[in-house]
Amino acid sequence: MTIQEMQENARKNILNCKVCPVCNGLGCGNTMPGPGSKAPGNGAYDNWKAWQNIKLNMDVFVADGPVDTSTELFGREFSLPILTGPIGTLLQYSKEDVTIPFNDGVMQACAETGIIDCFGDGLAPQTLPGALASLEKHGAAAIPVINPISMEDIKKEMDQVNASNALAVCLVVDSAGLSIWSGGGFGTKTVDQIKALRAYTEKPFLLKGIMTAKNARQAVSAGADGIIVSNHGGRVLPYSASTAEVLPEIVDAVGGQTKIIVDGGIRSGADILKALAMGADGVLICRPFCTAWFGGGAEGVKLVVEKLRGELKEAMYMCGAHSLSEITPEMVRF
Ligand SMILES: Cc1cc2nc3c(=O)[nH]c(=O)nc-3n(C[C@H](O)[C@H](O)[C@H](O)COP(=O)(O)O)c2cc1C
Repeated sequence: MTIQEMQENARKNILNCKVCPVCNGLGCGNTMPGPGSKAPGNGAYDNWKAWQNIKLNMDVFVADGPVDTSTELFGREFSLPILTGPIGTLLQYSKEDVTIPFNDGVMQACAETGIIDCFGDGLAPQTLPGALASLEKHGAAAIPVINPISMEDIKKEMDQVNASNALAVCLVVDSAGLSIWSGGGFGTKTVDQIKALRAYTEKPFLLKGIMTAKNARQAVSAGADGIIVSNHGGRVLPYSASTAEVLPEIVDAVGGQTKIIVDGGIRSGADILKALAMGADGVLICRPFCTAWFGGGAEGVKLVVEKLRGELKEAMYMCGAHSLSEITPEMVRF
């Protein structure tokens, strides 16, 4: 199967998504439910555009040699600094609820290509146990991403995660304002509540949806082992800054104290190199893996991973880096 064939299949199988040649938020606008951004619908595009405005500096006066994209995250080795992004429910893409087979297929692809899978706990109670069963089946390095539900329910989900072989556990904090979560003791959490959750889990603990240096420092003070710089792909706050825009100040504030992952419109190996050169330890990519699964299941997801691997290797080679540790801030130009 080629990428083009996978995309053609996806167009037949998926609802609400046009499967654009480049997934940049223009085709879906404010389609929610669906893959779009919160009205007026510019968030996903703003994220993508911000990476496009950052350029790479070529360096060809270095010794020739192979390029190694491997990295260590949360105590394990991976072949690429890429994490797949969580999608809590696939109901917005399909008449049938295919969330469990989606999580299974993406996890299989991640295990076979040596990358980390992040999956959502979803809205249905069977989603988390289903994904944890897939995690064991595929021996995947996977991270459940728990919604901002009540403290009691988060702890119940953490109990399931603690009993599994999950690589880490993550709490998504930027979707707190969605009407299903906000109010009634759900939604936003205080730093003390985050500290209590950190203490509750035995796993490395990540927070997804950090967009300011202030929140990044608070996350570190609460004991987060990793933060995901993310605005939920533009789905939670209109006129949120783009993630590429805030990454430098967050790296300045907490770089070296916690792992920094960034997402939002990262679509190529060149974009990944930009994020790493700006100080990220890894990138998370969501929507393209979703369309890839609709177009070709685990094989479709693997095609996209391998495309990104090839592009990252080429970009690193052209900028004079043969390993991730050789990537430097001088490689990007604003
Ligand atoms: C349809 C859809 C559902 C999502 N559901 C979740 C979710 O349940 N939990 C979460 O943390 N992020 C969720 N996200 C956000 C993504 O994980 C990711 O942060 C965002 O899409 C940015 O990455 P991208 O530009 O590569 O898509 C969702 C995104 C989409 C498009």
